[in-house]
Amino acid sequence: MSGVSIRDLDDKHGWGSRVSGVTWDNIDDESLRAQLRQLFVDRGFIVFEDMDPSSQMQVALSKVFGPLKDHPTRNVPRAGSDLAEGVIDMHYTPRGDPGHDHGLTEVNGRKLVSYLPWHFDHTYNDELNYAGVLRAVVQAPEGGRTGFADGIEVYKAMNPDLLRRIEGLSAIYTLDVRLTQMRFGRTFRTFGDTERDVANTLESKLFPRAIHPMVWTRPTGEKVAHFCGFSAVGIEGHEDPEGDALFEEALQEMYRCINPYWHDWKPTDLVIWDNLRILHAVEGCDPKYERRMHRTTIRGDYGLGRFEGGKKIGEVDREIAPLALPA
Ligand SMILES: [Fe+2]
Repeated sequence: MSGVSIRDLDDKHGWGSRVSGVTWDNIDDESLRAQLRQLFVDRGFIVFEDMDPSSQMQVALSKVFGPLKDHPTRNVPRAGSDLAEGVIDMHYTPRGDPGHDHGLTEVNGRKLVSYLPWHFDHTYNDELNYAGVLRAVVQAPEGGRTGFADGIEVYKAMNPDLLRRIEGLSAIYTLDVRLTQMRFGRTFRTFGDTERDVANTLESKLFPRAIHPMVWTRPTGEKVAHFCGFSAVGIEGHEDPEGDALFEEALQEMYRCINPYWHDWKPTDLVIWDNLRILHAVEGCDPKYERRMHRTTIRGDYGLGRFEGGKKIGEVDREIAPLALPA
């Protein structure tokens, strides 16, 4: 595997790696691909550095780890090129109406766009995705970092008494992912929905709620704290004040135990995270800055999610999903 170097993410985390030297010349090398897959199983998160900054490379690298999965909602914008198959385009262009706060989020006294609290992707779906691969096509000059936190590390750090109370419980999530409606684990202020948010919400009322275990055990034996306030409705079977208090307590304990890694983007970085293990968040940035992220999604479910009411995968009409979900 000449030319490829692998090192730890940093000295503050027991997970995550940095890999450099993956190029068009070696990306088809089967022994390298197998080594990268094993590294990803072990470490859960990889920053690929000094990569060819193209959609083609993003797709090629993604396919090392598994087949691409199309987004569960068909209307999320895709990157424009035929060669960018499966690449989701998340593009924010500066607002023409500064001073208008709708859709902004205030975090630590600053009003931001693109802010997202800690979450895993596809909460609102029965089927999760194995991994996401992210690239910053246009990075804001300040802010806009992406945060990552290991659910295995969080589980190990959480209060054992609290863990005993939540193990075996499942959380309910809704397709209504508006931060204005987020009930649990709020650490921010919102200022009302945009018109598009409102239109999306009407459609989301037709979508069944999805249910996922709050703690799950990997095939490799580790337990993972795997729940989030984003899009959460409450605890299955405990949608009452006591259940809501327990969910909030669990989230606050999770926040206390999160030891985040915040990734400051370079145009040549490609980052992959295990969506069944690693939580992520978006720091948000000033509305005056453009920010454009491209994401691919890798198929591979853990098989523990379901829709309320026993609906099966494929029975839900995914055409009804809203226009621009946070990917
Ligand atoms: Fe996400």
